[in-house]
Order: sequence, then C-alpha cells, then structure tokens
Amino acid sequence: GGDFNQKIDYVFKVVLIGDSAVGKSQLLARFSRNQFSLDSKATIGVEFQTKTLEIDNKTVKAQIWDTAGQERYRAVTSAYYRGAVGAMLVYDMTKRQSFDNMARWLEELRGHADKNIVVMLIGNKCDLGNLRAVPREDAQEFAQRENLFFMETSALESTNVETAFLTILTEIY
Ligand code: GTP
Ligand code: MG
Repeated sequence: GGDFNQKIDYVFKVVLIGDSAVGKSQLLARFSRNQFSLDSKATIGVEFQTKTLEIDNKTVKAQIWDTAGQERYRAVTSAYYRGAVGAMLVYDMTKRQSFDNMARWLEELRGHADKNIVVMLIGNKCDLGNLRAVPREDAQEFAQRENLFFMETSALESTNVETAFLTILTEIY
C-alpha cells in the first residue's frame, strides 16, 4: 500500500553536523528525494526530512535533521541533539579545515547527545578526487580512534549516500 495507512514500527532521529558547505543539505536531498543542486543555499536554522524504509521486515521512519554549519545561523543546540540515535559528522574531502574541525563537532555532539548514539564520519565530495586534501588513511585513523563508522560519499554522483544512511539506520536498529 501507499504511505497513508502505513504502520510505523520505529522512528529514528539522525542529525547531520559539520562545517558550512561540506554538503550536509545535499546529502539529505539525495537520500530523501534523490535530488541534488549545485547552487544549494546555506541552511538557516533547522530543517528535516523523513524517509520511510524497510529494515528486517520492520517499517522504519528515518527523521533526518539538518542544521547550519555557520555559527550565526545555528539554532539552539541542545534541542537539535535531543532524542537523536544517529549522527553523521560530515567534512569535505577537498577542504582540510573541514576535517580538522571534526574533533570539535564530535566534542559538541558528545556533550549534548545520548552516549549510545551511532556516529558515522563522512568524507563528502569524493567525485572531486583529484582535489583530495584529506587522505583516506587520516580519516580512517580518526574514525578508529573515536569509534566511528567511516565512509566517503558523493551527493553529486550518488556514491555511498544510500549505503551510509542505511548503515547507520541498521546499526541503530
Ligand atoms: P550549510 O547549510 O551552510 O551548513 O552547508 P551544507 O553543508 O548544507 O552544504 P550544501 O549541501 O548546501 O552544499 C554546499 C555546496 O557543495 C553546494 O554548492 C553543493 O552543490 C556542493 N556539494 C554538495 N555535495 C557535493 C558533492 O558530493 N560533490 C560536489 N562536487 N559538490 C557538492
Ligand atoms: Mg545546509
């Protein structure tokens, strides 16, 4: 049947965090609507999208929250993290600074979120491989040390986007 009378077994809240312009909103657009835009505008405040999917014969509604990477556009932090069971820490693999800032984003996450939250480190824009500024090994090492899942994605080319969200949701489940 359609979405109308669908029985939802679980609702999972997942938050996206990371510097401005790393591609959080486009990862969400790709996952929830299979859309992508090159002239994406900076997010102001908080937005969310939902996507309902089947995991292990259960109907899971993923509620993905997206906020501004820019400090001046961010909404109240504690409300953003409240109830989140998954998080994606996103950097732009062509911008070293966005990776170096991951430690600070992780600190904020750990300061506000539930301690059992499932966290995945995401190196986005892997379609720009020739501009790579973050070696895969650096990210793997950070992920291992901090106990995070890790994946490189491209919202533009649709690489690993579905896989990354599904991995998080399955791990939560
Ligand atoms: P804030 O809302 O300011 O925090 O930024 P954001 O992290 O949501 O970034 P957004 O999704 O708006 O993307 C920023 C820019 O990067 C846009 O021009 C996107 O089109 C572009 N972009 C996003 N993902 C990719 C990708 O996988 N590859 C490439 N080449 N560009 C991307
Ligand atoms: Mg955004």
